[in-house]
Amino acid sequence: MIQDWNSRFSDNIREYGGYSIGKLFDLLKDPEIISLAGGLPSPDMFLKHEMRLVSGRILEENLEKVMQYTAIKGEQVLLDAIVQFLARDNIQVTHDNIVVTSSGQHGLDLIGRLFLNPGDVVILDRPTFAGAIVAFQMQRPEFVGVDIEDDGSNVDGFRTRIEALEKEGRKPKFIYVVPDFQNPSGITMSLEKRNALLDLSRDHNIPILEDSPYRDFRYYGETIPSLYSLDQERGGGNVIGLYTFSKLFCPGLRIGFNIGPSEVIDRMTNIKEGNVLNTPKYNQDMCAAFLTEMGMEEHILKCRKYYREKLEVFLSTMDECFPPELGVTWTKPDGGLFLWVTLPEEIDTHKLFYDAIKYKVAFVPGDVFFGENPSVNMMRINFSFATKEQLAAAVKRLADCVRNRLQPSG
Ligand SMILES: Cc1ncc(COP(=O)(O)O)c(C=O)c1O
Repeated sequence: MIQDWNSRFSDNIREYGGYSIGKLFDLLKDPEIISLAGGLPSPDMFLKHEMRLVSGRILEENLEKVMQYTAIKGEQVLLDAIVQFLARDNIQVTHDNIVVTSSGQHGLDLIGRLFLNPGDVVILDRPTFAGAIVAFQMQRPEFVGVDIEDDGSNVDGFRTRIEALEKEGRKPKFIYVVPDFQNPSGITMSLEKRNALLDLSRDHNIPILEDSPYRDFRYYGETIPSLYSLDQERGGGNVIGLYTFSKLFCPGLRIGFNIGPSEVIDRMTNIKEGNVLNTPKYNQDMCAAFLTEMGMEEHILKCRKYYREKLEVFLSTMDECFPPELGVTWTKPDGGLFLWVTLPEEIDTHKLFYDAIKYKVAFVPGDVFFGENPSVNMMRINFSFATKEQLAAAVKRLADCVRNRLQPSG
């Protein structure tokens, strides 16, 4: 007898479709397509020489330990390095406040499993990081989104929604934000809004989840204190921080970490026991070496210059190719890897995606970045991976494609 597999799947997973943009990426195999879709850091910024050197040493000196099971919470050497990494950003933690993760997506999964029951409310921006939506969706929460503003989350909008929910006897489990150079919009939350968000968190006793992959990729202006550090100044305990080294170092090693109150970190470590057990020691040792002996600060300066130049090429070509009468607008980020384009309302970027492939250019349709009630006339652009020449060409192709959609010939 053939099993009816669908009836065997768990309630949480039966309707779960995973990362819908993954399926679109399968369509991008044609090498002539310039992809602005993925969130890939540039291999030009990979520390290849240092990687080879340190890798040889780790395998020479520590091969047996590298091949063995290792501590669930993380390697001591990496935990030490993370403490220092955060101290330079005015965040004070001890090992008790850290769990090493197998990168950001794993960190999000731990959060979802730890906090969410089916139907629980998560407050988030519209748009927000699609990977967080996908990770949390496994627990079938309800997403309550408020349109993001030029200076970050609409905190008053969050307050209104939270108060309305509380009147119904419902308390959101947490507020999820990416305050620095948000994926997908590139928007950064102002200091005023960070303080207002912390006030909101305290007033309503709702924790904040601060996802921070891009903090060091600032190309313009001054760094704004993290929510975590501002909360620590107020006594701490309301913010959980989520970090990954995927963008700053490399995504291939899959290393990140979560920080928070020790009772929260202990529970995340328990969950990690039950899913990946430990993060590979080799990857952790490589990452610790990145933080302590590969010239990280110099690397950050190099990345800032390199990505800023790409952003400038992208933005100036956008100015040339999208005159105001086309009705297309886009964000102008101070850092990060992404920006957000809004097209006239009649354009559905999911449909446009298939047109764009014919024009040999790709982006991510914006609807995947909404937890509920998606807007369909927006797209996410990544400017870190393509070369400067490709970026300029991609914008021209995109403009031709959009013009054709707006004024179909024949
Ligand atoms: C805001 C945000 N959080 C988490 C992640 C996931 O990071 P990782 O690739 O390390 O799993 C990303 C990746 O793009 C991201 O943009």
